[in-house]
Amino acid sequence: MTEATPPTLEGRLVRLRPPRPEDHALLFEWSNDPDLVAPFARFAAPPWEEFVAELERAPEEPSSLAARFVVERRPGGETIGMVGYYSAHPVLTLVDVWYVLGRPSERGKGYGRESVRLLVDNLFAAKALERVGATCDVDNIPSSRLLASLGFRPEGRFRSALYHHARWHDVLVYGITRSEWRSALPAPDGS
Ligand SMILES: CC(C)(COP(=O)(O)OP(=O)(O)OC[C@H]1O[C@@H](n2cnc3c(N)ncnc32)[C@H](O)[C@@H]1OP(=O)(O)O)[C@@H](O)C(=O)NCCC(=O)NCCS
Repeated sequence: MTEATPPTLEGRLVRLRPPRPEDHALLFEWSNDPDLVAPFARFAAPPWEEFVAELERAPEEPSSLAARFVVERRPGGETIGMVGYYSAHPVLTLVDVWYVLGRPSERGKGYGRESVRLLVDNLFAAKALERVGATCDVDNIPSSRLLASLGFRPEGRFRSALYHHARWHDVLVYGITRSEWRSALPAPDGS
């Protein structure tokens, strides 16, 4: 299935746009940063050429884990993060979002929350999905609060599903349906 080129998504705090060749080095750096990818070490970034090829192929591949948008801070336009989504099951319609602010100094300012809001909004607008999901380590408080603040509901817990820092971690499963998103959708200004 060929998907349309993703649009640019404008929020109040951030703008999401598809990665360009000049973003590749920064995305590669973030994808290899042990502080950022430790929880996902088993999905470590491939070598450079393969990494770039995956980024470029992502729009045509629903299951791709590659970044689908970079996050730019407004109004300056500095690139502060990356987000994506992937088809997470071979049979069920499970599309999960993921999100990373690569610059730790930019966290806790609402950029992550607005980025995910724009991403989920676009997924429901552009695709015939009835549910969008996300998973996060039980210890990842910013991530679970972000999801809860957007109206995602806890749906379960995968026990001992993620190995990092020398032990297995439980993972929380979150989801939101199209109708819940419509009724819980915060105003674009975050109010
Ligand atoms: C998870 C992440 C994207 C959140 O983005 P962010 O811009 O820092 O978060 P926001 O400022 O939008 O805040 C979202 C919620 O998290 C809370 N939060 C943010 N930083 C926090 C912290 N250090 N401790 C506790 N809560 C925090 C906010 O208070 C807010 O919750 P609230 O609405 O209930 O008050 C960001 O922290 C990040 O990139 N982390 C590393 C990568 C990662 O863990 N990605 C998610 C994998 S599942």
